[in-house]
Amino acid sequence: MTDLEIQRDVPLAPLTTLELGGPARFFARVADTETLLAALRWAREEGHEAVVLGGGSNLIVPDEGYPGLVIHMAIGDIDFKDGGRVEVGAGVPWEVVVDGAVTRGWAGLECLTGIPGSTGATPIQNVGAYGQEVSEVIARVLVVDRESLALGDLAPEACEFGYRDSMFKREPGHYVVFGVHFALRTDGAGTVRYAELEKNVPRSASLGEIRSKVLDLRRRKSMVVDPDDPNRRSAGSFFLNPVVTSAEADRVAALAVAEGLAPNIASVPRYPTASGEVKLAAGWLIEKSGIAKGTRRGAVGLSSKHALALIHHGGGTTTELLSFADEVRARVKDRFGISLQREPRLLT
Ligand code: EPU
Repeated sequence: MTDLEIQRDVPLAPLTTLELGGPARFFARVADTETLLAALRWAREEGHEAVVLGGGSNLIVPDEGYPGLVIHMAIGDIDFKDGGRVEVGAGVPWEVVVDGAVTRGWAGLECLTGIPGSTGATPIQNVGAYGQEVSEVIARVLVVDRESLALGDLAPEACEFGYRDSMFKREPGHYVVFGVHFALRTDGAGTVRYAELEKNVPRSASLGEIRSKVLDLRRRKSMVVDPDDPNRRSAGSFFLNPVVTSAEADRVAALAVAEGLAPNIASVPRYPTASGEVKLAAGWLIEKSGIAKGTRRGAVGLSSKHALALIHHGGGTTTELLSFADEVRARVKDRFGISLQREPRLLT
């Protein structure tokens, strides 16, 4: 165990991909479970709230910072076992897991490449992209119960995974995730299911080919963090794709055609969900509500490559970003009657 070291007034902006927001009043880096428990105990004894920071890629920090303890998760063990099992500490960068799996010919993560952040964050929002969701290959989630400080491990059913959703997201005060075990498929057959991917690689493509095509598609949308990309300061998709009834989706499509925003109903993007509802494309709704890619409001705006990513150009504030987000939300609501929901977490 490393000793618990509590730092004060640590700037959080450099630890987030948006590069926005104020400092943590208290801050501790934890590299093992004993130090994690010591940090949680310290916060409780001192009467402070505690939150966990992973890769900072899905997080918005308020300008005033965070008044409690920020625990920077750095548990970094990774163990590729036999038979497709992988045991990973929450602080391991996610791409390390994807890379190790694809290199071994283990399937299940090849579409989840190029996603910034740490492994511990993946079950929280049930990371998904290009036809895969991480919940499909999660075997156990290792947790600390914040109340009892007992260590435990949860089966996937207990995590109540949904689209960008889980019990961890809905009940942030319940558990801290400190590790994830994955069960991957050793037969090497990859997932080519997402229409945009199907257009670009054959169904029989190798895991390596699928991964590099996904990386290519993500890069084109500025959804890979690249220091030279002017759209790089983002939190990925800023809003969830709205899930609506099929009657509601029909209404939106008919409205779009009637107002000359789409040539025909079939051209309005919509995706059926397992529950029988329809997922609409938030990026499309934003553009059609009249906010073009690359729109700027001072130091913030929309990515020039993807309307669903709000970006920071540098020198801005979280207040500006959130006010622009409100403007986007209001425009979509006015135009289509659809309420967009924020996807990244606001640190409060
Ligand atoms: N679209 C537009 N304008 C845009 C962007 C998209 O009209 O600026 C339309 C596209 O033409 C397409 C549809 O929207 O018809 C869907 O676009 P895309 O394939 O880019 O995916 P998305 O629905 O915008 C979701 C995830 C992404 C994930 C991609 C690929 C959410 C909130 N976002 O985006 O995840 O990479 O699918 O699977 O579900 C993230 O969560 O941070 C993230 C990047």
